[in-house]
Amino acid sequence: MTFQHWNLNIDAQSIATASLNRAGESTNALSRAVMEELGQLLDQLEREPPAGLIIRSGKAAGFVAGADIDEFSQLDTPEKGRQLVARGWDLFNRLAAVRYPTLALVRGHCLGGGLELALACRYILAVDEPGTKMALPEVMLGIFPGWGGMSRLPQRIGAPAALDMMLTGKGLDAVRAKKMGLADDCVPPRVMEMAARQLLLSNTPRRPLPFMQKMLSGPLKAVVAKGARKHVAKKARPEHYPAPYAIIDLWQKHDGNALAAPGVVERIIQSPTAKNLLRVFRLQERLKSFGKSNDAGGDFVARHVHVIGAGVMGGDIAAWCALRGLSVSLQDQDVTRIAPAIARAQRLFEKKLRQPLAVRAACDRLIPDPEGAGVAHADVVIEAIFENVEAKHALFKALEPKMKPQAILASNTSSLRLEDLRPVLVRPERLVGIHFFNPVAMMPLVEVVEAAGADPAAVRAACAFVRQIDKLPLPVKSAPGFLVNAVLAPYMLAAMQAVDRGIAPESIDAALLAFGMPMGPIELIDTVGLDIAMAAGQQLAGGAQAPRCLQERVTRQQLGKKAGQGFYTWNQGKPQRGPAPAAPAGLAEELVAPLIERTQRLVAEGIVADAELADAGVIFGTGFAPFTGGPLHREARLAQG
Ligand code: NAI
Repeated sequence: MTFQHWNLNIDAQSIATASLNRAGESTNALSRAVMEELGQLLDQLEREPPAGLIIRSGKAAGFVAGADIDEFSQLDTPEKGRQLVARGWDLFNRLAAVRYPTLALVRGHCLGGGLELALACRYILAVDEPGTKMALPEVMLGIFPGWGGMSRLPQRIGAPAALDMMLTGKGLDAVRAKKMGLADDCVPPRVMEMAARQLLLSNTPRRPLPFMQKMLSGPLKAVVAKGARKHVAKKARPEHYPAPYAIIDLWQKHDGNALAAPGVVERIIQSPTAKNLLRVFRLQERLKSFGKSNDAGGDFVARHVHVIGAGVMGGDIAAWCALRGLSVSLQDQDVTRIAPAIARAQRLFEKKLRQPLAVRAACDRLIPDPEGAGVAHADVVIEAIFENVEAKHALFKALEPKMKPQAILASNTSSLRLEDLRPVLVRPERLVGIHFFNPVAMMPLVEVVEAAGADPAAVRAACAFVRQIDKLPLPVKSAPGFLVNAVLAPYMLAAMQAVDRGIAPESIDAALLAFGMPMGPIELIDTVGLDIAMAAGQQLAGGAQAPRCLQERVTRQQLGKKAGQGFYTWNQGKPQRGPAPAAPAGLAEELVAPLIERTQRLVAEGIVADAELADAGVIFGTGFAPFTGGPLHREARLAQG
């Protein structure tokens, strides 16, 4: 029997190997057709049982990336949702029940339905290489791992760790997968085939869960579930994000079998959240696509980055680039100004990389460079010095003759016009904006700014660079505040005007948290700094007077978090809040309205290419409630009723 997506090979020792090589795609996903064929493959093996079955990928890129996303977006009735769940639940139960031993050879990404497939095998062998990652990220799309993951993952690694993975979507690399008991073993690529056959035929029983883990997955289930609910509640409200609550319920009450709880499936399918999060996922893919080189631009790959200005932004940009594997030179006026940035970088590396050798290597990649020796061999030069035109002019003039001809020259400026910065250059068209957000390590979005007449190849290369360091590039035209700061300004202004009207900051923030924002606008202003908010307001508020509450505090030097006092008193990095009196009805809508209006205007003016990209920028640049699908999408849906 031949298959379109699978290749079944049975060797002389009667070991069957099923390789998934989904036709017409570069990565494997579990589409309906792929699953139907797997069913037929099991039929065939049932007739002539092999000594064992190895399931692996026939692609260079990864094991399986998950279910087929396009098939989710067509789920419009609860019945279709039930059918989709049943398709994987039944098939993987069947795989789990075959009499011969089975093994999933996992190399590269093994996500969602892919991990559920692996979990249905008796053994999982993880191949130790950088791309190997196992995760159940369904929750990020507003759905749950309904193909057995909710029942099998807790059985393998214990309920607390399994819930953590399912509720956060976080993944494990090969080494951690083995350590946690998700993978039975972890081997380097060169011995994987041999190791797979040995393990498959070894008859090794599954490592039993330790006693305490058994208790937590059995008699103490209710306690674990309660703790998990409490934990989730801190981050997501059930009315906005029903999926994590559904996962806990399904695990606790139905052993992970969603078919036993039709009401839960119905709730998820009918809430708009899953569709909107799917949209956000697609928007993210679209942003990523800007980093893909096309023929015209060739492949831009940076090896060395030179950053000038080791302050708040430059220091963190340099650290991030080094974390992502680039070699980086960091320049400032003298070494004493660079030292704090290097110390900060070391802490970032320790937090993100953990392993001492990797931390050491990242530190070695980040070179203090007060003389600017790195400019000459840099592929990307990023300027992040004081926000001052003359200073930037002097710097650019000195830089340009030293740079490689093809290198990117970028400014991180927030408020100066690229058009005003570039006249000192011999090749003004090469200057682009690469605008990072603070804190660099946390913010996924980077605006890539194109001034009129800029070289399109430079803009494309800048997008490719942003992708290379694992950020999301958003191309924008040169305009005050670009997209993100421009839409935040009227929103923050409206929030401060509400304070002037006598509404408590606590009430304002509570109302916007209830709306679904990750942080209230007043806390955001305190975090950004009231001086910065004042300056941004002057530039972006279209001549409106600064709110009284802002002026008074700036006069008193109560500049927010960094000063220990702003709208709130800050203690150990946390705002001290009083009780929040009930906010007037409709306050959140009222404060969000100017943000939406400004977003619409920027699309109309072509600052950002279309409404989808504007939504993407506002979500990834400000954290605007992702479950809404973005400000313009939400507005359009409300307008449709
Ligand atoms: P900062 O004041 O923390 O750091 C600036 C650094 O540049 C200082 O260490 C200074 O010694 C150095 N510097 C000044 N002139 C120099 C020169 N000629 N050669 C070498 N080093 C020089 O400033 P920050 O906040 O990091 O801002 C830097 C740039 O990033 C500005 O253009 C700003 O608009 C932009 N930006 C700032 C954001 C923020 O939240 N702070 C966010 C996004 C962009």
